[in-house]
Amino acid sequence: MRRACVIGWPVEHSRSPLIHRYWLKLYGIDGAYEKEAVRPEDFESFLGSLAARGYAGANVTLPHKEAALRAAAIADEAARAIGAANTLWLDQTGRLCASNTDAYGFMTNLDEEAPGWNEGRRPVLVLGAGGAARAIVYGLLAAGASRILLANRTRERAEALTEAFGEPVKVIDWEQRNRALTGCGLFVNATNLGMTGKEPLDIDLAALPQDAVVADIVYSPLETELLAAARARGNRTVDGLGMLLHQAVPGFERWFGVRPEVTPELRAHAAASLGAK
Ligand SMILES: NC(=O)c1ccc[n+]([C@@H]2O[C@H](COP(=O)([O-])OP(=O)(O)OC[C@H]3O[C@@H](n4cnc5c(N)ncnc54)[C@H](OP(=O)(O)O)[C@@H]3O)[C@@H](O)[C@H]2O)c1
Repeated sequence: MRRACVIGWPVEHSRSPLIHRYWLKLYGIDGAYEKEAVRPEDFESFLGSLAARGYAGANVTLPHKEAALRAAAIADEAARAIGAANTLWLDQTGRLCASNTDAYGFMTNLDEEAPGWNEGRRPVLVLGAGGAARAIVYGLLAAGASRILLANRTRERAEALTEAFGEPVKVIDWEQRNRALTGCGLFVNATNLGMTGKEPLDIDLAALPQDAVVADIVYSPLETELLAAARARGNRTVDGLGMLLHQAVPGFERWFGVRPEVTPELRAHAAASLGAK
Protein backbone atom coordinates (compact mmCIF):
# COMPACT_ATOMS: atom_id res chain seq x y z
CA MET A 1 0.00 0.00 0.00
CA ARG A 2 1.31 3.49 -0.94
CA ARG A 3 0.89 6.14 1.73
CA ALA A 4 1.22 9.93 1.86
CA CYS A 5 0.20 12.57 4.37
CA VAL A 6 -0.17 16.27 5.04
CA ILE A 7 2.09 17.65 7.76
CA GLY A 8 1.05 20.80 9.60
CA TRP A 9 0.68 22.40 13.03
CA PRO A 10 -2.24 22.55 13.37
CA VAL A 11 -3.33 20.23 10.58
CA GLU A 12 -6.96 19.58 11.40
CA HIS A 13 -8.21 22.30 8.98
CA SER A 14 -6.35 20.87 5.97
CA ARG A 15 -8.49 20.06 2.92
CA SER A 16 -5.80 17.88 1.35
CA PRO A 17 -7.15 14.56 2.72
CA LEU A 18 -10.53 15.27 1.16
CA ILE A 19 -8.95 15.72 -2.27
CA HIS A 20 -6.44 12.88 -2.19
CA ARG A 21 -8.84 10.35 -0.66
CA TYR A 22 -11.37 11.23 -3.36
CA TRP A 23 -8.81 10.41 -6.05
CA LEU A 24 -7.58 7.24 -4.31
CA LYS A 25 -11.12 5.91 -4.33
CA LEU A 26 -11.89 7.13 -7.87
CA TYR A 27 -8.81 5.45 -9.38
CA GLY A 28 -9.12 2.32 -7.23
CA ILE A 29 -5.62 2.74 -5.78
CA ASP A 30 -4.48 0.72 -2.78
CA GLY A 31 -3.26 3.76 -0.89
CA ALA A 32 -3.90 6.03 2.08
CA TYR A 33 -3.57 9.73 2.82
CA GLU A 34 -3.21 10.76 6.48
CA LYS A 35 -3.04 13.93 8.57
CA GLU A 36 0.10 14.36 10.68
CA ALA A 37 0.16 17.07 13.35
CA VAL A 38 3.86 17.80 13.87
CA ARG A 39 5.30 20.56 16.06
CA PRO A 40 7.90 22.85 14.44
CA GLU A 41 10.65 21.49 16.72
CA ASP A 42 9.86 17.93 15.61
CA PHE A 43 9.49 18.65 11.90
CA GLU A 44 12.97 17.76 10.72
CA SER A 45 13.15 14.49 12.61
CA PHE A 46 9.67 13.62 11.32
CA LEU A 47 10.93 14.09 7.76
CA GLY A 48 13.87 11.85 8.57
CA SER A 49 11.43 9.11 9.50
CA LEU A 50 9.10 9.42 6.49
CA ALA A 51 10.28 6.17 4.89
CA ALA A 52 10.23 4.30 8.21
CA ARG A 53 6.65 5.45 8.68
CA GLY A 54 5.79 4.03 5.27
CA TYR A 55 5.27 7.32 3.49
CA ALA A 56 6.17 7.90 -0.18
CA GLY A 57 5.93 11.62 0.45
CA ALA A 58 3.88 14.42 1.94
CA ASN A 59 2.18 17.74 1.57
CA VAL A 60 3.42 20.42 3.89
CA THR A 61 1.29 23.22 5.24
CA LEU A 62 1.78 26.07 7.73
CA PRO A 63 4.10 26.65 9.47
CA HIS A 64 6.52 24.17 7.87
CA LYS A 65 6.79 25.28 4.23
CA GLU A 66 10.12 27.12 4.52
CA ALA A 67 11.62 24.41 6.74
CA ALA A 68 10.53 21.80 4.18
CA LEU A 69 12.59 23.52 1.50
CA ARG A 70 15.61 23.72 3.82
CA ALA A 71 15.37 20.05 4.68
CA ALA A 72 15.16 18.83 1.08
CA ALA A 73 18.22 17.36 -0.66
CA ILE A 74 16.79 18.37 -4.03
CA ALA A 75 14.36 21.21 -4.74
CA ASP A 76 12.86 22.18 -8.08
CA GLU A 77 13.07 25.67 -9.55
CA ALA A 78 9.61 26.73 -8.33
CA ALA A 79 10.35 25.81 -4.71
CA ARG A 80 13.70 27.60 -4.80
CA ALA A 81 12.28 30.76 -6.40
CA ILE A 82 9.28 30.85 -4.05
CA GLY A 83 11.45 30.04 -1.03
CA ALA A 84 9.07 27.39 0.31
CA ALA A 85 7.92 23.85 -0.48
CA ASN A 86 4.46 22.30 -0.16
CA THR A 87 5.09 18.91 -1.79
CA LEU A 88 7.74 16.36 -0.77
CA TRP A 89 8.65 12.91 -2.02
CA LEU A 90 11.42 10.38 -1.63
CA ASP A 91 13.28 9.45 -4.80
CA GLN A 92 14.51 5.94 -5.61
CA THR A 93 17.64 6.40 -3.52
CA GLY A 94 15.67 7.78 -0.57
CA ARG A 95 16.63 11.43 -1.02
CA LEU A 96 14.03 13.98 0.03
CA CYS A 97 12.82 16.04 -2.98
CA ALA A 98 10.74 19.21 -2.78
CA SER A 99 8.46 21.23 -5.02
CA ASN A 100 6.08 24.11 -4.62
CA THR A 101 2.88 23.47 -6.57
CA ASP A 102 0.94 26.59 -5.55
CA ALA A 103 2.09 28.54 -8.63
CA TYR A 104 1.19 25.59 -10.85
CA GLY A 105 -2.22 25.34 -9.14
CA PHE A 106 -3.01 29.02 -9.45
CA MET A 107 -1.87 29.32 -13.08
CA THR A 108 -3.53 26.11 -14.29
CA ASN A 109 -6.81 27.21 -12.77
CA LEU A 110 -6.49 30.74 -14.12
CA ASP A 111 -5.76 29.47 -17.64
CA GLU A 112 -8.76 27.14 -17.44
CA GLU A 113 -11.26 29.52 -15.91
CA ALA A 114 -10.18 32.75 -17.61
CA PRO A 115 -8.47 31.88 -20.89
CA GLY A 116 -6.83 34.88 -22.53
CA TRP A 117 -6.34 36.62 -19.17
CA ASN A 118 -3.02 38.05 -20.43
CA GLU A 119 -4.28 39.27 -23.82
CA GLY A 120 -3.11 42.82 -24.25
CA ARG A 121 -0.46 42.17 -21.59
CA ARG A 122 -2.01 44.72 -19.27
CA PRO A 123 -0.68 45.18 -15.72
CA VAL A 124 -1.74 42.82 -12.94
CA LEU A 125 -2.50 44.05 -9.41
CA VAL A 126 -1.67 41.54 -6.67
CA LEU A 127 -2.62 42.19 -3.04
CA GLY A 128 -0.48 40.42 -0.44
CA ALA A 129 3.15 39.45 0.04
CA GLY A 130 2.90 36.22 2.04
CA GLY A 131 3.77 32.73 0.84
CA ALA A 132 0.79 32.49 -1.51
CA ALA A 133 1.48 35.88 -3.10
CA ARG A 134 5.07 34.85 -3.69
CA ALA A 135 3.96 31.72 -5.52
CA ILE A 136 1.45 33.68 -7.60
CA VAL A 137 3.95 36.37 -8.61
CA TYR A 138 6.38 33.62 -9.64
CA GLY A 139 3.66 31.90 -11.67
CA LEU A 140 2.44 35.08 -13.35
CA LEU A 141 5.94 36.10 -14.40
CA ALA A 142 6.68 32.61 -15.74
CA ALA A 143 3.44 32.85 -17.76
CA GLY A 144 4.50 36.13 -19.34
CA ALA A 145 2.90 38.84 -17.22
CA SER A 146 4.77 41.99 -18.19
CA ARG A 147 4.02 44.18 -15.18
CA ILE A 148 2.90 43.29 -11.67
CA LEU A 149 1.82 45.94 -9.20
CA LEU A 150 2.15 44.64 -5.66
CA ALA A 151 0.40 46.13 -2.63
CA ASN A 152 0.78 44.80 0.88
CA ARG A 153 -0.20 46.19 4.27
CA THR A 154 3.42 45.77 5.39
CA ARG A 155 5.31 47.45 2.56
CA GLU A 156 8.71 45.95 3.50
CA ARG A 157 7.38 42.47 2.87
CA ALA A 158 6.34 43.48 -0.66
CA GLU A 159 9.74 45.05 -1.22
CA ALA A 160 11.47 41.84 -0.20
CA LEU A 161 9.43 40.11 -2.84
CA THR A 162 10.52 42.51 -5.59
CA GLU A 163 14.12 41.89 -4.62
CA ALA A 164 13.55 38.24 -5.43
CA PHE A 165 11.68 38.81 -8.69
CA GLY A 166 13.11 42.10 -9.95
CA GLU A 167 12.12 44.71 -12.47
CA PRO A 168 8.62 43.65 -13.65
CA VAL A 169 7.29 43.84 -10.07
CA LYS A 170 6.55 47.32 -8.72
CA VAL A 171 5.54 47.94 -5.11
CA ILE A 172 2.75 50.41 -4.51
CA ASP A 173 1.35 51.69 -1.22
CA TRP A 174 -1.50 49.70 0.30
CA GLU A 175 -3.54 52.94 0.34
CA GLN A 176 -3.14 53.23 -3.46
CA ARG A 177 -4.76 49.87 -4.24
CA ASN A 178 -8.08 51.24 -5.55
CA ARG A 179 -6.43 53.66 -7.94
CA ALA A 180 -3.90 51.05 -9.09
CA LEU A 181 -6.74 49.01 -10.62
CA THR A 182 -6.89 51.50 -13.51
CA GLY A 183 -5.95 49.74 -16.74
CA CYS A 184 -5.29 46.34 -15.13
CA GLY A 185 -6.20 43.14 -16.96
CA LEU A 186 -6.13 40.99 -13.81
CA PHE A 187 -6.61 41.63 -10.10
CA VAL A 188 -5.63 38.97 -7.55
CA ASN A 189 -6.41 38.92 -3.84
CA ALA A 190 -3.60 36.86 -2.29
CA THR A 191 -4.20 38.05 1.29
CA ASN A 192 -6.44 36.27 3.76
CA LEU A 193 -8.84 39.23 3.83
CA GLY A 194 -12.41 38.16 3.12
CA MET A 195 -11.85 34.70 4.54
CA THR A 196 -14.35 33.40 7.10
CA GLY A 197 -13.24 34.68 10.50
CA LYS A 198 -10.86 37.32 9.07
CA GLU A 199 -11.44 40.99 8.29
CA PRO A 200 -13.26 41.90 5.08
CA LEU A 201 -11.26 43.09 2.07
CA ASP A 202 -11.76 46.82 1.67
CA ILE A 203 -11.50 47.46 -2.08
CA ASP A 204 -13.41 49.65 -4.56
CA LEU A 205 -13.43 48.06 -8.02
CA ALA A 206 -14.67 51.24 -9.80
CA ALA A 207 -11.36 51.86 -11.62
CA LEU A 208 -10.97 48.27 -12.86
CA PRO A 209 -11.78 47.75 -16.56
CA GLN A 210 -14.94 45.71 -17.02
CA ASP A 211 -13.18 43.14 -19.19
CA ALA A 212 -10.55 42.45 -16.51
CA VAL A 213 -10.39 39.16 -14.57
CA VAL A 214 -10.72 39.09 -10.77
CA ALA A 215 -9.19 36.14 -8.88
CA ASP A 216 -9.47 35.46 -5.16
CA ILE A 217 -7.36 32.72 -3.59
CA VAL A 218 -9.53 32.67 -0.49
CA TYR A 219 -11.78 29.59 -0.81
CA SER A 220 -13.79 29.80 2.38
CA PRO A 221 -16.33 31.16 1.64
CA LEU A 222 -16.26 29.94 -1.93
CA GLU A 223 -17.93 33.08 -3.24
CA THR A 224 -16.15 35.89 -1.42
CA GLU A 225 -17.53 39.41 -1.26
CA LEU A 226 -14.84 40.42 -3.74
CA LEU A 227 -15.95 37.83 -6.29
CA ALA A 228 -19.62 38.72 -5.82
CA ALA A 229 -18.87 42.43 -6.36
CA ALA A 230 -16.73 41.68 -9.41
CA ARG A 231 -19.37 39.44 -10.96
CA ALA A 232 -22.06 42.04 -10.32
CA ARG A 233 -20.18 44.61 -12.41
CA GLY A 234 -19.48 42.17 -15.23
CA ASN A 235 -15.89 41.05 -14.56
CA ARG A 236 -14.89 37.43 -15.14
CA THR A 237 -14.07 35.79 -11.80
CA VAL A 238 -11.85 32.91 -10.63
CA ASP A 239 -12.29 31.45 -7.14
CA GLY A 240 -9.72 29.92 -4.78
CA LEU A 241 -11.04 26.36 -4.80
CA GLY A 242 -9.70 25.64 -8.29
CA MET A 243 -6.17 26.57 -7.18
CA LEU A 244 -6.48 24.30 -4.16
CA LEU A 245 -7.57 21.34 -6.30
CA HIS A 246 -4.98 21.84 -9.05
CA GLN A 247 -2.05 22.30 -6.66
CA ALA A 248 -2.74 18.78 -5.37
CA VAL A 249 -2.28 17.12 -8.81
CA PRO A 250 1.55 16.86 -9.03
CA GLY A 251 1.91 15.40 -5.51
CA PHE A 252 -0.71 12.72 -6.10
CA GLU A 253 1.01 11.71 -9.32
CA ARG A 254 4.41 11.47 -7.57
CA TRP A 255 3.17 9.33 -4.70
CA PHE A 256 0.54 7.15 -6.36
CA GLY A 257 1.68 7.01 -10.01
CA VAL A 258 -1.52 8.31 -11.61
CA ARG A 259 -2.00 11.87 -12.85
CA PRO A 260 -5.41 12.72 -11.39
CA GLU A 261 -7.99 14.96 -13.02
CA VAL A 262 -9.69 17.99 -11.53
CA THR A 263 -13.29 17.36 -12.58
CA PRO A 264 -16.59 19.15 -11.90
CA GLU A 265 -17.47 16.18 -9.65
CA LEU A 266 -14.36 16.73 -7.47
CA ARG A 267 -15.14 20.44 -7.34
CA ALA A 268 -18.69 19.74 -6.22
CA HIS A 269 -17.43 17.26 -3.60
CA ALA A 270 -14.95 19.80 -2.17
CA ALA A 271 -17.43 22.69 -2.39
CA ALA A 272 -20.01 20.68 -0.46
CA SER A 273 -17.50 20.15 2.34
CA LEU A 274 -16.65 23.85 2.41
CA GLY A 275 -20.33 24.72 2.53
CA ALA A 276 -20.78 22.37 5.45
CA LYS A 277 -18.14 24.16 7.51
N1 LIG B 1 -6.55 28.61 -2.84
C1 LIG B 1 -5.43 28.04 -2.46
O1 LIG B 1 -5.03 26.97 -2.93
C2 LIG B 1 -4.56 28.73 -1.45
C3 LIG B 1 -3.19 28.40 -1.34
C4 LIG B 1 -2.41 29.08 -0.40
C5 LIG B 1 -3.01 30.04 0.41
N2 LIG B 1 -4.34 30.31 0.27
C6 LIG B 1 -4.99 31.34 1.09
O2 LIG B 1 -4.31 32.56 0.83
C7 LIG B 1 -4.30 33.39 1.99
C8 LIG B 1 -2.88 33.86 2.27
O3 LIG B 1 -2.04 32.75 2.51
P1 LIG B 1 -0.48 32.90 2.84
O4 LIG B 1 0.04 31.53 3.02
O5 LIG B 1 0.16 33.81 1.87
O6 LIG B 1 -0.54 33.62 4.26
P2 LIG B 1 0.53 34.60 4.95
O7 LIG B 1 1.91 34.25 4.49
O8 LIG B 1 0.18 34.58 6.39
O9 LIG B 1 0.16 36.05 4.34
C9 LIG B 1 -1.03 36.72 4.71
C10 LIG B 1 -1.19 37.96 3.84
O10 LIG B 1 -2.43 38.62 4.20
C11 LIG B 1 -2.14 39.95 4.61
N3 LIG B 1 -3.04 40.39 5.68
C12 LIG B 1 -3.41 39.67 6.78
N4 LIG B 1 -4.24 40.42 7.55
C13 LIG B 1 -4.36 41.63 6.94
C14 LIG B 1 -5.07 42.83 7.25
N5 LIG B 1 -5.84 42.93 8.36
N6 LIG B 1 -4.98 43.88 6.40
C15 LIG B 1 -4.20 43.80 5.28
N7 LIG B 1 -3.51 42.69 4.93
C16 LIG B 1 -3.59 41.61 5.75
C17 LIG B 1 -0.71 39.91 5.08
O11 LIG B 1 -0.16 41.21 5.10
P3 LIG B 1 1.10 41.56 6.07
O12 LIG B 1 2.33 41.10 5.35
O13 LIG B 1 1.01 43.04 6.24
O14 LIG B 1 0.85 40.81 7.36
C18 LIG B 1 -0.08 39.00 4.04
O15 LIG B 1 0.13 39.67 2.81
C19 LIG B 1 -4.91 32.53 3.11
O16 LIG B 1 -6.26 32.89 3.23
C20 LIG B 1 -4.82 31.11 2.58
O17 LIG B 1 -5.84 30.27 3.06
C21 LIG B 1 -5.12 29.69 -0.65
